[in-house]
Amino acid sequence: MTSSNSGPLHIVIMAAGLGTRMRSAKAKVLHQAGGMTMAELIVRQSLRLAAPGQIRVITGYQAEEVERVLAPYGVGFARQTEQLGTGHAVLCAREFLEDQPGMLLIINGDCPLLRAETLEALLDTARRPGVAGAVASTVLDDATGYGRMIRTDAGALAAIVEEKAASAPQREIREINTGIYAFDAARFWPALKQVKPDNPAREYYLTDVVGILNAAGETLLPSVVADRREVLGVNNRVELAVADQVLRARKVESLMLDGVTIENPATVTIDADVVVGADSIIEAFAQLRGNTQVGANSRIGAGAVLRHVTLGDGSVVQPYSVIEDSVAGAGATIGPFARLRGGNELGDDVHIGNFVELKKAKLGRGTKAGHLAYLGDCEIGGKTNVGAGTITCNYDGLNKSRTVVGEGCFIGSNATLVAPLRIEHDSYIAAGSVITHDVPPGSLAFGRARQCVKEAGAEIIRRKAEERKGKG
Ligand code: UD1
Ligand code: CA
Repeated sequence: MTSSNSGPLHIVIMAAGLGTRMRSAKAKVLHQAGGMTMAELIVRQSLRLAAPGQIRVITGYQAEEVERVLAPYGVGFARQTEQLGTGHAVLCAREFLEDQPGMLLIINGDCPLLRAETLEALLDTARRPGVAGAVASTVLDDATGYGRMIRTDAGALAAIVEEKAASAPQREIREINTGIYAFDAARFWPALKQVKPDNPAREYYLTDVVGILNAAGETLLPSVVADRREVLGVNNRVELAVADQVLRARKVESLMLDGVTIENPATVTIDADVVVGADSIIEAFAQLRGNTQVGANSRIGAGAVLRHVTLGDGSVVQPYSVIEDSVAGAGATIGPFARLRGGNELGDDVHIGNFVELKKAKLGRGTKAGHLAYLGDCEIGGKTNVGAGTITCNYDGLNKSRTVVGEGCFIGSNATLVAPLRIEHDSYIAAGSVITHDVPPGSLAFGRARQCVKEAGAEIIRRKAEERKGKG
């Protein structure tokens, strides 16, 4: 055979199955581990070895959704409209890849802990002179459910036998197929076409290619993965939780090695793409999700939940604050118990205190809202103090309107700011006011009933009450 196991690399990722054992309406590869779908985890590792154009993902069950999630990575797709088995899945990429010489790397899509280093080791084995392919294996105490690796006397790979088709002695074998394969493409495709669905499941088993090539006199080698956790397939939600935990631990470890202090690391939840600057401290049970970025020398308090949040250096989020889609400058302090809904932009040194809710609020440098306020659809200049209980009335039941407050203002406690409204810079709003009209620069605005005092009035009230009680 005049083929070569060197040459360019192409990668096929099998992601068309439903994953019956997940007991989910959602395709298995769309389930997340470490804050990312399993499909993305495999694609990201694959991209460390090959360009997007060299990667094909086999989609089938919920293909549109899987393709939408993976589209940003630029990889190609091939549809498998009926899930007739892993052999059939790879066959669906034939029109794109059959004429491509070189190496073909095939990966089960349900293997979220896989690292590119392990794929490299597999490729090294498959590229040895005279070798037609290699299969990543590992040794388990309990191999139930996995395909078993049948070795030749010389230690090469003779066949892979699926659990359902295995004889009793074969079931004793504890070396299993991880579902990660590297083949010399020129020898692989003709063998794949010979695979028949003659097994109890009536499926086209990709694993049959090994026996077919071996029978044709080709040499296949196992590539044993020492850390079996890395190559375990996720078939149900128990295994998904294990994978999630491993990925979280990897993330936390890499942050700590990069200079972030994490208290009680087993309790925090930090997604793969989160960035945290050096000398920041993350307290127990904090959650940093999505593309959250925390600057250096910051502190994220216990139980705080941040999703798609950017915080400048030296910021502090006190415990139990919930922040989404928001940006804050350096030195911002938020919480405890603050709620920042989407679209907020806080300047440097802004302070948001307890039980303050923000939505689409832009706050200038050094502005403070320390207690119990709702600030929505508003823009507030720097150095303004927003008193306790201040409410922007941004919604009249039909429309949302904006409140604009200038720099250096003082908004008294319990002010009700009825939008649309402009309060110009350096103004003063009296506590308890309902403000419905624009306020010019430097003004003092009141909007409340005048206080009235009746001396000895308390005595009159009390006497009347006692008279009523006497009658009753
Ligand atoms: C497979 C292997 C088994 C191995 C195990 C490792 C086969 C026949 N068996 O079994 O030897 O020990 O992985 O985890 O390959 N898929 C498709 N289209 C299909 C069927 C499956 O794209 O028609 C995809 C699935 O989405 C999944 C992957 O292929 O990502 C593996 O399929 P799965 O059904 O989980 O295979 P296993 O039974 O685990
Ligand atoms: Ca599997």
